[in-house]
Amino acid sequence: MKNILVTGGAGFIGSHTCVELLNENYNIVILDNLSNSKEGAIERIKTITGKEVKFYKVDLMNLFETEKVFEENQIDAVIHFAGFKAVGESVQKPLEYYENNIGGTFNLIKAMKKYNVKNIVFSSSATVYGVNNKVPYTEDMPTSATNPYGYTKVMIEQILSDIAVSEPEWSIVALRYFNPIGAHESGLIGENPNGIPNNLVPYIAQVALGKLDALRVFGDDYATPDGTGVRDYIHVTDLAKGHLAALKYVEGNPGFQPINLGTGKGSSVLEVLHAYEKACGKELPYNVTPRRAGDIAESYAQTGLAKKLLNWEAKLDIEKMCQDSWNFTIKNPEGM
Ligand code: NAD
Ligand code: UD1
Repeated sequence: MKNILVTGGAGFIGSHTCVELLNENYNIVILDNLSNSKEGAIERIKTITGKEVKFYKVDLMNLFETEKVFEENQIDAVIHFAGFKAVGESVQKPLEYYENNIGGTFNLIKAMKKYNVKNIVFSSSATVYGVNNKVPYTEDMPTSATNPYGYTKVMIEQILSDIAVSEPEWSIVALRYFNPIGAHESGLIGENPNGIPNNLVPYIAQVALGKLDALRVFGDDYATPDGTGVRDYIHVTDLAKGHLAALKYVEGNPGFQPINLGTGKGSSVLEVLHAYEKACGKELPYNVTPRRAGDIAESYAQTGLAKKLLNWEAKLDIEKMCQDSWNFTIKNPEGM
């Protein structure tokens, strides 16, 4: 399987995955409507790898245009990143989230069926573990959600698993990402949130740049070692490499398989803040505020299945994640 369609390939995780695919000599076609990314990301993928990339500015909601991409290219497998991803926004705009994430996936599946492509790696999320499971999360735990974004992931996993039952030649992996952070070490591609970031590391990066005054630590009274929330942060380059391992897996393994991509190690908000201070060489101001609604105390992966099925494990530590985030941030103070 050498010809890969990457939906959402101009985005944060997609662009890093494209770099790793090109480095391993895959041919890639990127489909992205640029709703949350810029075409410049495609140029930067080319600069980093020195390779050519075919790009279609296409919206998955447009079935005709999506099918055309399959018509014009021989595709062996799809990595499906495209979707909306902001939890808070999904609560404000549930219809847009269900329509784009689930509707976009429907069209993609229809086009795949028409062109007889039956291998897909889907971007799921640790958010499907909901609030009732106990860490470390294992893939056999029941899934649930607390917001429309999370429900789109739960529902798409269900849809994909139903397809694998009804058409046993399909080979589907749902990768449940934990908390992807960091950036490519070139500093050319990274995370580029619009407006004030919601997620921890992009927020800290803006504080380090001097664009935001201080980090608000959302609660220090959790049952965790220092009282602040614990998450399984994973370097986006490690995550990207996990997709290459998953592509190899789908080649010979029909069915539906969810797999965690995390490090298995939790870091607290204050640990991440201190690692970032080390990376940027200055003290960063913070104040403790009440807990953020919907947050859980801790989330981290059981990583054994990824090791067993994909022969993949994360290698980069929180220091490297913060160094690469900072390197990207100072090289792109106004974003990409
Ligand atoms: P991103 O927003 O940077 O990338 C998503 C890309 O999809 C964007 O380039 C956007 O323009 C494109 N897109 C959105 N809707 C589209 C449509 N209808 N047609 C074509 N293109 C469309 O997000 P990301 O952080 O790279 O996340 C990629 C995937 O991983 C998403 O599905 C997200 O839900 C999932 N995920 C992300 C995280 C995270 O923390 N970043 C965690 C778990 C899961
Ligand atoms: C959030 C989403 C999750 C999604 C993930 C993708 C919520 C409730 N969860 O996960 O569904 O899959 O992003 O990126 O939105 N924190 C602060 N101050 C901040 C920001 C965050 O203290 O300004 C803390 C949070 O309370 C949490 C940790 O930092 O303990 C990580 O937060 P964040 O980066 O937003 O990720 P999650 O909440 O794990």
